[in-house]
Amino acid sequence: MEQINDGYIEVDGSLKFCDRSGQIIREELPPQSKNQGWIHQAQLRPEERIYGLGERASSLNLRAAKDEQQQSKIYRIWNYDAAGMYPPGSDPMYLCIPVYLGLHSVGSYLIFYENSFDANFTFAETATADFTGGSLRYYFTSGSPRQLLERYTELTGRAPLPPRWALGYHQSKWGYRTESAVREEARAFQHQKLPLSAIHLDIDCQVGYRAFTIDPERFPKLASFTQELAVLGVQFIAILNPGIKYSRHSNLFLEGQILDGFCKLPNGKLVVAPVWPGWCVFPDFTNPKVRSWWSRQYAYLLDVGVAGFWHDMNEPAAFITSGDRSLPKVTQHFMEGRGGDHREAHNIYGLLQAEAGYESLRQYRPEKRPFIVSRAGWAGLQRYAWTWTGDIESSWSALRQTISTIVGLGLSGIPYSGPDIGGFQGNPSAELYLRWFQMASFFTFYRTHSSNNVEHRTPWTYGEPYLSIIRSFMELRYRLLPYFYTLSWEAAQKGYPPVRPLFWAGSDDTTLWDVEDAFLLGDALLVCPIVEEGGKSRQVILPPGRWYSFWDDTVFEGGQQVSLSAPLESIPVLVKAGSILPMEENKQLTLHLYPPTQGKSFTQLYSDAGDGYGASRLDKFHLLRLANGLEFTWEEQGDYPFPYTSVQIHLHGLKLQQAWVDDAEVTCQGQQLKCDRFLKIRLQAE
Ligand code: NOJ
Repeated sequence: MEQINDGYIEVDGSLKFCDRSGQIIREELPPQSKNQGWIHQAQLRPEERIYGLGERASSLNLRAAKDEQQQSKIYRIWNYDAAGMYPPGSDPMYLCIPVYLGLHSVGSYLIFYENSFDANFTFAETATADFTGGSLRYYFTSGSPRQLLERYTELTGRAPLPPRWALGYHQSKWGYRTESAVREEARAFQHQKLPLSAIHLDIDCQVGYRAFTIDPERFPKLASFTQELAVLGVQFIAILNPGIKYSRHSNLFLEGQILDGFCKLPNGKLVVAPVWPGWCVFPDFTNPKVRSWWSRQYAYLLDVGVAGFWHDMNEPAAFITSGDRSLPKVTQHFMEGRGGDHREAHNIYGLLQAEAGYESLRQYRPEKRPFIVSRAGWAGLQRYAWTWTGDIESSWSALRQTISTIVGLGLSGIPYSGPDIGGFQGNPSAELYLRWFQMASFFTFYRTHSSNNVEHRTPWTYGEPYLSIIRSFMELRYRLLPYFYTLSWEAAQKGYPPVRPLFWAGSDDTTLWDVEDAFLLGDALLVCPIVEEGGKSRQVILPPGRWYSFWDDTVFEGGQQVSLSAPLESIPVLVKAGSILPMEENKQLTLHLYPPTQGKSFTQLYSDAGDGYGASRLDKFHLLRLANGLEFTWEEQGDYPFPYTSVQIHLHGLKLQQAWVDDAEVTCQGQQLKCDRFLKIRLQAE
């Protein structure tokens, strides 16, 4: 046995990883090779929980799920088109990543296998990774969940800051066919007094469902139309599938052929499979020349004002009714020059398409930040694209499922994701749509989308009282944008996902390890969606510390289970004591202070122009609890001018009596006071 840094290695290749105090964090068995692959196992502790593996429609703790025979569920790493509709429990999904986080009584760790081959993972008494090919190369790190995500994204990259508009509401529908239909939809949002940041155009806007086309007959003045939408504050997002129509009448096909850029079989024939345009060929994105050719295709759509792209069907998916709905495994790939086949290239196909798209947007529109949503991906997708949870069924269990799926994606390094609000397939009841909407108001990607064979779904589809409630949540979302945007900045700096599991707030509190029906948004907010039909209240286990109701300031002490009421108008949202929640309305910034129970707390607010790569600023707030109130100090950093015209302080949890701004007494209006920028505020409050 030999001691290595923070661990031991035995002659048979088994490994023990220890923490600083010498306690074992993970015990690995000797790796075994088999056929062309290998198996890697680690002993799991009885209480150990496992999270991650990219996108999963499973329990948050992956170890808890069982298959029909009550055996540990097998999680496959093979990006898969869960076509048309998938229920909770479905596996595999569109975006698989061989990374997981283990949490037990001694600590937590993360392991990432740098291998893109098909694999099965199971978590029983041992964690087993069974890869069908490639080498055994993995990265291990231990520490708090925060440290794990920071380290993992140091390795695989962090999500760049998105354009700020992307954090607003997006409306989508498989079915917008014409300019006038899209115009009508955008105007209806105005008419209904609902905010809207983007409209997504599905394949119906294309010519014969072909990539990079928009039908000139149905969208005759695209450049002025995207402009017209931009004036309303609405961005135009176009869908793109990777399959190229296999036809001599397709320019893309001819160009790709000249480049010898399509995937082929070992006998040299093109791989041809049916997708939306009919028989298609598939660009080999593992070839840098193909990526750069593909990149050039976005340019003319960017020139006419298309703001972002939605990469669909990029597992890659093909309409094959039985077996694998993708390319044959023998399909040859360039693999950056060293050659390989689809067994290795499949899982990175969507990732490399996203890279090509991202590089294109950087190159052809350098003054703006790229916005791409990709259905498939692999480790590192966060550098290029957001994602959504695909064709989930429209059901209450699917609403609940979404929470674990999104939290699990975040723990796998993907900070931006969201569901089709209301579910993709099926017609949600008014109540289901509303509850789904309320929950999604706190996810990063906030979009309604639905299939082409269901009723048209918008925030006003169900009339009153649903519309007014949805409107109030949308308005709240936009008021919270300073908070969301600061979380985006934090994700770009540190890799922390904005949407987090409850154990993020205290990973040694075992009662939080299995909470999968609530989530944290940043450190300040705890969101408890209603996940059952007719639910008007719910229980939640609170992380340590004091929590305030966002709606009425009721105080709850953490570390216990509480019951919270949830009339149709709201879902329980709690704010952690010590938080400063920045909210905006009509250019006014309101800083909501939630006093720490004792001592100090610190919050930052990030601002910039909302797009581009110019100056930025950080406003740093320190809150100090005093015997008879609070001291609140403000430090400004960075060159971007302060973006708000006025500032207001709103104190929660204590009765505001008197206030001094930079030592001059000011009048309070109830719990609020208006002020300019300041260095220090003293609040007398009890
Ligand atoms: C499958 C996608 O998951 C879905 O969102 C989209 O509407 C359809 N393809 C049609 O493009």
